[in-house]
Amino acid sequence: MIRILLLSALVAGALTCGVPTYPPDVTRVVGGEEATPNSWPWQVSRWDLTMLLKLVLNSWAQVILLPHSSRTYAVALGRHNLYIAESGSVAVLVSMTVVHEKWNSSDVSNGYDIALVKLTNPVSLTDKIQLACLPPAGTILPNNYPCYVTGWGYLQTDGPAAEVLQQGRLLVVDYATCSSPDWWGSTVKTCMICAGGDGAISSCFGDSGGPLNCQAADGRWEVHGIVSFGSSFGCNYYHKPSVFTRVSKYIDWINSVRTGPA
Ligand SMILES: *[C@@H]1O[C@H](CO)[C@@H](O)[C@H](O)[C@H]1NC(C)=O
Repeated sequence: MIRILLLSALVAGALTCGVPTYPPDVTRVVGGEEATPNSWPWQVSRWDLTMLLKLVLNSWAQVILLPHSSRTYAVALGRHNLYIAESGSVAVLVSMTVVHEKWNSSDVSNGYDIALVKLTNPVSLTDKIQLACLPPAGTILPNNYPCYVTGWGYLQTDGPAAEVLQQGRLLVVDYATCSSPDWWGSTVKTCMICAGGDGAISSCFGDSGGPLNCQAADGRWEVHGIVSFGSSFGCNYYHKPSVFTRVSKYIDWINSVRTGPA
């Protein structure tokens, strides 16, 4: 269910953040839908260079052994349609991935499902590449707070991955509700956020690590959640909302990694 989990968003503290040049369309409230191009300009897509290389080499009918340790990632920024060349987009190699030291891949319900990536080169901010805000440490969103999950993941259970960036409006389900026995029960912890679970909206995002974007009172967009896990029964199964890492719980960790010795 869970692969490598990345905070697939650029985040900023003091710099201007959370104000896209091209505002997202938040007028429609039902269903997953194509996002306005570049309206979530902190959205990152991750590329596994090993997979990409294998694909190319296999199509040439050659057998090449690639050492497992040489798993190399790149991230693409400023993207909307992943299948075409787009002006204003850039790809940058990842030089380092820092996974939370308490993360246990055999036990996602344990939490700590967060990682940071460091890029080999700095990236200039443009109209299509901008920063999201981090929520203030400890922020808890109330029940039914509207947020948007974005990604190129599956459009429906077992469906194809999307070519263009999708957005889906999800309402926050508070911890008291989400941890009740007929919802997620004790699988959900206070270090997580639940959103969705009405069983109706076909927002089904396969990209673990994608952002849950929530607008603050001052209009700026904050990344409150990182897609962590969902129901094995399918997308947005009734009373099984998507579960996100609660970013506001990890502000100190994020800051310590950013300013740390590495
Ligand atoms: C990780 O989770 C598994 C399954 O719950 C458990 O058996 C194991 O002891 C955990 N590992 C650590 C280092 O806590």
